[in-house]
Amino acid sequence: MCGIVGYVGPQGALDVVLEGLRRLEYRGYDSAGVAVLSDGELSTAKKAGKLANLEKVLAEEPLPSSTIGIGHTRWATHGGPTDRNAHPHLSADGKVAVVHNGIIENFALLRAEIEATGTEFSSETDTEVVAHLLAAVYRETPAGEGRLAEAMRAVSRRLDGAFTLVATHADEPDTLVASRRNSPLVVGIGETADGTAEYFLGSDVAAFIGHTRNALELGQDQVVELHRTRGATVTDFAGAPVEPTSYTVDWDAAAAEKGGYPWFMLKEIAEQPQAVADTLLGRLGESGELVLDEVRLSDQELRDIDKVFVVACGTAYHAGLIAKYAIEHWTRIPVEVEVASEFRYRDPVLDRSTLVVVISQSGETMDTLMALRHAREQKARVLAICNANGSTIPRESDAVLYTHAGPEVAVASTKGFLTQVVACYLVGLFLAQVRGVKYEDEIAAIVDDLRRLPEAVAKVLEQMEPVRELGRELADANTILFLGRHVGFPVALEGALKLKELAYIHAEGFAAGELKHGPIAVVDQGTPVVVVVPSPRSRNSVHGKVVSNIQEVRARGARTIVIAEEGDEDVVPFADHLIRVPRTPTLMAPVVTTVPLQVLACEIADTRGFDVDQPRNLAKSVTVE
Ligand code: AGP
Repeated sequence: MCGIVGYVGPQGALDVVLEGLRRLEYRGYDSAGVAVLSDGELSTAKKAGKLANLEKVLAEEPLPSSTIGIGHTRWATHGGPTDRNAHPHLSADGKVAVVHNGIIENFALLRAEIEATGTEFSSETDTEVVAHLLAAVYRETPAGEGRLAEAMRAVSRRLDGAFTLVATHADEPDTLVASRRNSPLVVGIGETADGTAEYFLGSDVAAFIGHTRNALELGQDQVVELHRTRGATVTDFAGAPVEPTSYTVDWDAAAAEKGGYPWFMLKEIAEQPQAVADTLLGRLGESGELVLDEVRLSDQELRDIDKVFVVACGTAYHAGLIAKYAIEHWTRIPVEVEVASEFRYRDPVLDRSTLVVVISQSGETMDTLMALRHAREQKARVLAICNANGSTIPRESDAVLYTHAGPEVAVASTKGFLTQVVACYLVGLFLAQVRGVKYEDEIAAIVDDLRRLPEAVAKVLEQMEPVRELGRELADANTILFLGRHVGFPVALEGALKLKELAYIHAEGFAAGELKHGPIAVVDQGTPVVVVVPSPRSRNSVHGKVVSNIQEVRARGARTIVIAEEGDEDVVPFADHLIRVPRTPTLMAPVVTTVPLQVLACEIADTRGFDVDQPRNLAKSVTVE
């Protein structure tokens, strides 16, 4: 939530900062703003709404040229999405400009203290207290190298809550400082063609990927000073030096472009066969065994596990629900799945022999991070499934399995989800392999099934035109229901979530078996009901029961949209619309059945004229609780 950018170097700062904001806009789009420092004076421009509004303002009233600047794209928490509340915020003396992501929990107390000195506030934000405090503390800090960083440390020590702060001071034309606690921030270190050093700050690496792939990770409670000639200096809040970890970003700027698609979401849906293949790459051994060297838990630790929790939010939680079916079936270890925001507050029973699998595309979701920390405090082992390299969640986990989906820019997760599901299969199967609960040939057969998944997803994508057509027809629906059973139930939940977040249509996912316990009352003449049908080939099949459910809703006037595998003829008489998917093993069916639901939601939203990539009220990564 909220995108932050900073730059100091030889280039025109405004252009660099605006380019970074364009790439980070998916983090929040309630307002955008920039501040640049030129001839000892700070100038700002800020505007409510999307970045395009700010760009219009800047075209009419350009800012002075500068080689140091900061920028912000906002997801509002304290104070409405107005021009006044847009960042950057300035101190009363106009000397400090600051941008912030997070929530400063003791801001009311600090505000009262500052107001008591006669300072007037110009916004309703929690952030503004930092601008005033920083200016005041700077005045009292002895002049010399590192003065602004010292002031930032002193201010940071007074703040409660979560924050990434980036600040610049009118008297320090060569310095940017930033502070980080529980909110994301990365440093980029680059060099222009003539060898001049340049430094970037971003909420994630997308902010500066067009300039450099060399990055530094910042840990919790750390302050970084970026100085034009002295370079990057990192300390903790007490001022003790810290050696930051450097890493190279393994994707380039093109990966974060639309590549000719009208929406990032469409591009990301189309990338799914490759993303699934990349997530499997190097992890399936030649003799049909799993090779997960990066899971840094010993075989003994994995054998000692007697319970698994899967903890995540939103779409990642739905991936976790699918994981339960696979892990329990393959390993016979009991698995509980829980939304991260509930997990930690109900005192779950955890100990050394519990494995907590946290799933997060961004690696920065605050609820998931807090759940992870709670699990580690209780001595449980934590394994992260994550897409963003160097993010906080994998850094704080005992082990990590990266999904290799590449950057996911659209707020609605698609390839992130599919690769999370695949990573969950890998974890389940790896546990079965290490614990010896499956014969080698059984593992090898499942590995073969995994190898076929990219092709199966590609096949689904080839047949999406009728789904798009259906999406255009359903654009005026008021309610759409989704039914599924077994692994189809989480798919139904995911289909409903995609539709809600993109098309703002009331949608609900149900376990098909629950239909007659209440939800069927919602069905009326013409209500669209999407049914995810399990394979008729699986043992203990619930296929027949779901076919009956289709008839039951149809008898009450529903317009049935049936997703069924090729060759399933039982559903044909009862499907008003039939969407075929390739035959896939029961547990892996979600990898193909989810795809039409993504396409459907995208098409409905587009037909309704909504911004598919940046739905209202949402942000890509939810970095506040
Ligand atoms: C998905 O479409 C959502 N935008 C959202 O539910 C998301 O999956 C959730 O916020 C978790 O994000 P994460 O995977 O980055 O932790």
